[in-house]
Amino acid sequence: MKCLAVVIIAIVLEVCNAHLCMLSPPQRGSMVGINKAGATDCILTTARCGGRPAEKPIMGLKMGSNFTVTFQKNLDHYDKATPGAFHVAIGQERQGTQMTNLVSIPDAGEPSLTLYSVNVTIPTGLVSRQLYVLQTAYVTNNKDAPAVFYQCADIIIEG
Ligand SMILES: *[C@@H]1O[C@H](CO)[C@@H](O)[C@H](O)[C@H]1NC(C)=O
Ligand SMILES: *[C@@H]1O[C@H](CO)[C@@H](O)[C@H](O)[C@H]1NC(C)=O
Repeated sequence: MKCLAVVIIAIVLEVCNAHLCMLSPPQRGSMVGINKAGATDCILTTARCGGRPAEKPIMGLKMGSNFTVTFQKNLDHYDKATPGAFHVAIGQERQGTQMTNLVSIPDAGEPSLTLYSVNVTIPTGLVSRQLYVLQTAYVTNNKDAPAVFYQCADIIIEG
């Protein structure tokens, strides 16, 4: 009976989590233990940047240039009936400002720890020498999971 209870709790935890980490550009804050599914650093659900404080820009990106964004589905949360998606966007962190979506990738049920690499073009029309965030979001579209997981990298836009 005791064993059964433990098993049930494990299943509930599994169902209630999905995880996302961004490797390139490296996400804000720590990124520890991501070779295992269920890493704490990949479970940030506060818009827009997971609730982590802004950091010094990790890199500069030129408007109109291409960049390969790499992120990890740390824990799968695919719901076959209502598949979710990953979105890469650029913008400023404060709420009320517009984020520009750069690319969307459907969640096709890939297993936990899958890496996704996607080329994006940094839009023109941003403000040079301003701080922006490159944001990855995992929209689960799964009623048993948090709606969205977020990661951000702080970047500076160059003209
Ligand atoms: C960026 O990628 C697009 C699409 O692949 C390509 O057409 C464009 O020439 C690339 N731009 C640069 C600056 O490399
Ligand atoms: C991204 O761009 C690089 C360099 O242009 C190219 O080698 C690579 O195949 C592209 N990757 C994807 C997923 O389109």
